[in-house]
Amino acid sequence: MCGIIGYTGNRSALPLLLGGLAALEYRGYDSAGVALQSDQLRIIKRRGRLAELCKALECEENLEAARCGIGHTRWATHGEPADRNAHPHGTERLALVHNGIIENYSEIGDFLKRKGYRFSSETDTEMAALLIDWFYLQSGDPKKAIFAATDMLRGSYALGVVFAAEKERIYAIRRDNPLIVAVTEAASFIASDIPALLAYTKEYYRPDDGILAVLSPGNAVFCRSDGSPVSLSTERVDFDVTAAQKGGWAHFMLKEIHEEPVALGRTVSHYLGVDGLPDFKNPLLDRNFFARFERVQILGCGTAMHAGLIGRHILENLARLPTSVEIASEFRYRDPLLSKKDLVILLSQSGETADTLAALRYAKKEGIYTLAIVNVVGSSVAREADAVLYTPAGPEIAVASTKAYSVQCALLYLLAVYFGLCRGTVTPFLAKELCRSLGKQAPESVRAILAQNDRICHCAARLQSAEHLFYIGRGVDYALCTEGSLKLKEISYIHSEAYAAGELKHGTISLIEKGTPVVAMMTEKKLAEKMISAIREVRARGAFVLLIVSAEIAEQYQIPYDERLLLPPVQEVLAPFPGVVALQLLAYHVAALKGLDVDKPRNLAKSVTVE
Ligand code: AGP
Repeated sequence: MCGIIGYTGNRSALPLLLGGLAALEYRGYDSAGVALQSDQLRIIKRRGRLAELCKALECEENLEAARCGIGHTRWATHGEPADRNAHPHGTERLALVHNGIIENYSEIGDFLKRKGYRFSSETDTEMAALLIDWFYLQSGDPKKAIFAATDMLRGSYALGVVFAAEKERIYAIRRDNPLIVAVTEAASFIASDIPALLAYTKEYYRPDDGILAVLSPGNAVFCRSDGSPVSLSTERVDFDVTAAQKGGWAHFMLKEIHEEPVALGRTVSHYLGVDGLPDFKNPLLDRNFFARFERVQILGCGTAMHAGLIGRHILENLARLPTSVEIASEFRYRDPLLSKKDLVILLSQSGETADTLAALRYAKKEGIYTLAIVNVVGSSVAREADAVLYTPAGPEIAVASTKAYSVQCALLYLLAVYFGLCRGTVTPFLAKELCRSLGKQAPESVRAILAQNDRICHCAARLQSAEHLFYIGRGVDYALCTEGSLKLKEISYIHSEAYAAGELKHGTISLIEKGTPVVAMMTEKKLAEKMISAIREVRARGAFVLLIVSAEIAEQYQIPYDERLLLPPVQEVLAPFPGVVALQLLAYHVAALKGLDVDKPRNLAKSVTVE
């Protein structure tokens, strides 16, 4: 939920730290700070966006001399956003930045109080910093101090530490939180995520939990707590710095929505074999593998879970495979009934969502095979699952997930086709047809709905002053409504609720009054008449209905509405692809019209690495 960055090299550290923090601000942005190591350790930190820190830095002198430092951008867990709670935390001997959550911070605090420490913040992070300081005072050895302290810490962390006496050195260690280390000719970096380093390198190390990285300019060594050295191989990203920049778009979210046609096409072509059938580029993931399973359990959080709802629809319809979808944070606490014939699929854009990672570990502990569908290469979920399928969508920076959802749906669609082949519910001919139309019609239909941007903006203007709003649909359209509702809530701050249209009359319709906006999704022909009844019911009570409907249904039925968005012609089974983009753009324009910070909505962060 936070972003950490560190630099040691032959250049002034501050500009590189600030550039890295700017690239990481999507990970949390309620405060920011830096620690610079020159003749002494200097910590400058401020509540608010990075711009507030930059203003404070302008009032400082002689910062440019520092060639080693660490930085942090925060999403508050313990302690309100305030200067005193911003990172880095430390003493005159050391400074520390932290992403994650120290669960036993209170116990550590009691230990430190007994050692005579007093605290200047309400954060869990300060406990980690002072605990390292305590052990450093005992041993005078940074590595021993860090290992002794992390032995006592419970929770999750990615830590960056600099010591006043250890010139040009940065120390970093992680547990259940992302941490990468990069080395160039004359410099070394730590960061939470690769976008912060793309301006300098595409190659990086990703140390495992408990491995300490010791960086010096142009060099990094890794060791275990017993001092034994660890050699790591580097990983490399295939996109460049522009992929993680706005590039002239008003917002990352708008850019990433417009990247969906290419991302969809890339995903399908990546996972299609020369025979036109799904090929998951992993010899283990063959027909025998898939034939083993009699049930699929899809787990994820937020938008990823909503993509799972689309996946269930496709898996059950194409492969007749019993499929359940569950919020990852609920899954393991209900003592789920699992069988060795289950396949657990974990959906995650970041691959660092703590709830999803915890659900993955639970399933593995129960001996259930886990398949991860993840966008960030080498992320924790990807590394710990039994198998991983990467979604080649490129970096997703906006907090509101868009293209990741669509490519997850595309990959689930290909899995459903493949399961159907294995289970005999889909013939090879039909499978090829389905894959071909997925690769062609899905991107084309998304381009067509993107071309309706002005129309969608017009509809958004009709909704922007709403306080409460409903999304209604049936079947797969109800699944789409869950995602449309989340998008609107998280970036426009308008309360909305996705509701199964058939369920409204069982109570919730009491909330409909004159002018209540209702977005009605209609892409499934067999449910059209039922949906028309639901629309009539809410309009009879004064609702303002924005109808989002496939062209084919609109031609065939007289459907009452107040505003209408026609979805482009597409095979019904592919309707979720243009359908969700209409909903994403609708939410985007409502938030933009309200003048809100679309890419960094209040209270949120891109990757929720705490439970
Ligand atoms: C999506 O718009 C939200 N920002 C959020 O619900 C997100 O989908 C969720 O936190 C899961 O993230 P993940 O895909 O990185 O695991």
